[in-house]
Amino acid sequence: MKSKETLASGIDLASERGAVEVRAVSKRYGQTEAVRPTSLSIQSGQFATLLGPSGSGKTTLLKMIAGFEEPSSGAILIGHQDVTHVAPQKRNVGFVFQQYALFPHMTVAGNLAYPLEMRGMPRRDINHAVGEALEMVRLSQLANRRPSDLSGGQQQRVALARAVIFRPPVLLMDESLAALDKRLREEMQIEVRNLQRELKITTIAVTHDQTEALVMSDVIFVINEGAVQQVGKPADLYYRPENEFVAGFLGESNVLHGHIELGVGEPELVLPSGMRLPIEAPAAAIGTSAVCMIRPEAIDLSPFPADRPPKLRGQVVQRIFCGDTFRVTLRMSDGTLLLSKPIGGNSRWLPDAGEEAQVSWHPSELTLISHPTKGTRA
Ligand SMILES: Nc1ncnc2c1ncn2[C@@H]1O[C@H](COP(=O)(O)OP(=O)(O)O)[C@@H](O)[C@H]1O
Ligand SMILES: [Mg+2]
Repeated sequence: MKSKETLASGIDLASERGAVEVRAVSKRYGQTEAVRPTSLSIQSGQFATLLGPSGSGKTTLLKMIAGFEEPSSGAILIGHQDVTHVAPQKRNVGFVFQQYALFPHMTVAGNLAYPLEMRGMPRRDINHAVGEALEMVRLSQLANRRPSDLSGGQQQRVALARAVIFRPPVLLMDESLAALDKRLREEMQIEVRNLQRELKITTIAVTHDQTEALVMSDVIFVINEGAVQQVGKPADLYYRPENEFVAGFLGESNVLHGHIELGVGEPELVLPSGMRLPIEAPAAAIGTSAVCMIRPEAIDLSPFPADRPPKLRGQVVQRIFCGDTFRVTLRMSDGTLLLSKPIGGNSRWLPDAGEEAQVSWHPSELTLISHPTKGTRA
């Protein structure tokens, strides 16, 4: 349906109700600067994740968007309206926060009805909406149970249904899947994502779990020490991190410091030891110092070729079987340690600890994190 409510600027208000903008927002607790001046822009209908280690300021930021904390400076806009000083219940935002757990004395249906009762919805409409919400999260059979008689996953689904039952354009979730065991968490990640798409609800989720962020998000804001380190789509952040923190926090990585030289027609990363590694680098990077990264899964191990010496060789320091992958730590001839993660497989050739292998990768897998032409001096 097309909205008639359109601003002179051409912004369609109805379809933009879920746009969230955080403008230079900061939060100070005494001496602690929990959130340094931060700006985020999230489009209506996007699934955005704030990803960072414990204590990085994620919850504080989310609470300011929800209205549970007042920013020390800056402004928050939801649907292009300034809500910086608007009370949480007037922000039209649903939330799944740990401290707002299900009401233990109410049934599942009672929990779901509550936000609608608060908004003065007629009883008949409430009953209808609760029925729909129960179906949506596949809990119709459990409407009369108390939360304590539900499994962890079921409780999470009720909390989610309660957060969206009044059809807010924005949903906020703070580590809401963290307490579930691994398998259930993985199922819920997909379930929440499907529901989010179906409802077209802008969602801002907080997590310290990088896999969860990669699996669920349209856009990830990587946060450390109260500041956004990098913003991007999951794959862009994973393959093109802009600093060592992002490279290390989002997945595992081998970070290498050196400088870029032109080898035999091809650029190479030259380590302080003199070892030369194949890299794809722009012409502007030749002759500059550089910090580079290669993901463990991009490093291939193979037997030494019969007809020529291997270009790069590594000795296995440690080999660990992880089921779907191996973790192989290699010591290169100059002493550099590299982690390789070959995929598992019964018939796969892999050297044992103490043995040697040819080490190779596609040059494009060794990526520049920073060099002077990117504005970051290595
Ligand atoms: N109410 C508070 N009073 C004082 N310090 C706080 C308060 N809430 C959070 N902090 C501090 O702010 C920083 C960020 O906390 P938080 O936003 O909870 O991080 P995260 O959610 O990323 O783990 C931490 O150093 C934390 O101790
Ligand atoms: Mg937190």
